[in-house]
Amino acid sequence: MIIAQISDTHLVVDGPDSAQRIADFEAVIADINTLDPAPNLIVHTGDIVHNGQTDEYAAAAEILGRTRLPVYVLAGNKDDRTNLRAAFVADGYLSEASEFIDYAVDGYPVRLLILDTINPESKKGDFCAKRLMRLDELLAQESSKPTVVFTHHPPFEVLVGPERFHFDDLDVMGRLAAAIQKPERVTALFSGHVHRPTMGQVGTIPAAVVPSVATSLRYGDYPAHMTVRPIYFVHRSCPHGGFSTETRVAGGYP
Ligand SMILES: [Fe+2]
Repeated sequence: MIIAQISDTHLVVDGPDSAQRIADFEAVIADINTLDPAPNLIVHTGDIVHNGQTDEYAAAAEILGRTRLPVYVLAGNKDDRTNLRAAFVADGYLSEASEFIDYAVDGYPVRLLILDTINPESKKGDFCAKRLMRLDELLAQESSKPTVVFTHHPPFEVLVGPERFHFDDLDVMGRLAAAIQKPERVTALFSGHVHRPTMGQVGTIPAAVVPSVATSLRYGDYPAHMTVRPIYFVHRSCPHGGFSTETRVAGGYP
């Protein structure tokens, strides 16, 4: 199974960087469309748009509509749950049973668990008791398949950059980390939010953060020729468990 992970497109339709944000977003979708073999699906790990506005979601949905692959989105701290839901509800995978943007994706060799870690007030990671109950329910629905978890905020210590922790409350982060410890079932966790490539560990689960697609918001040092070339991940499941992750530099422009 092949999963393309994109994140932190921070789309704006009216602003000094809007043309670049749109170009970056278009470039990753165009690049994903060239992959052979094609991924089974795309996951966007949040901060789809920058201001949570309906016109931004309309533009994002239009760009995501340029691939024939199934696309699954989750919410980042810059997203607005209501407007995100309205923009993507027609795709049919968002659970009406939840006030959060959390759901499972079944029907593939690897099961996806999409979690909602946002706190609209603080913008940092959060995972309340209600979301823990939802997670337990989602995990209990299917126990025979390898499972990969997607979050916006990484629930592990990031030792590069100014912030080590991206959750307000370390006990909350620890409860989320503990809840997904299902040996030999939950095999990977992939996140966004940090805007730079980072590897880590959530208990026994290998974890990775993909850089922001928005090149103007990306952190880390990159060669000059990559300045306006967005980066995303291609995760390929391994026959003996886990994933092999390729860092893709979207090509073709300028
Ligand atoms: Fe972001």
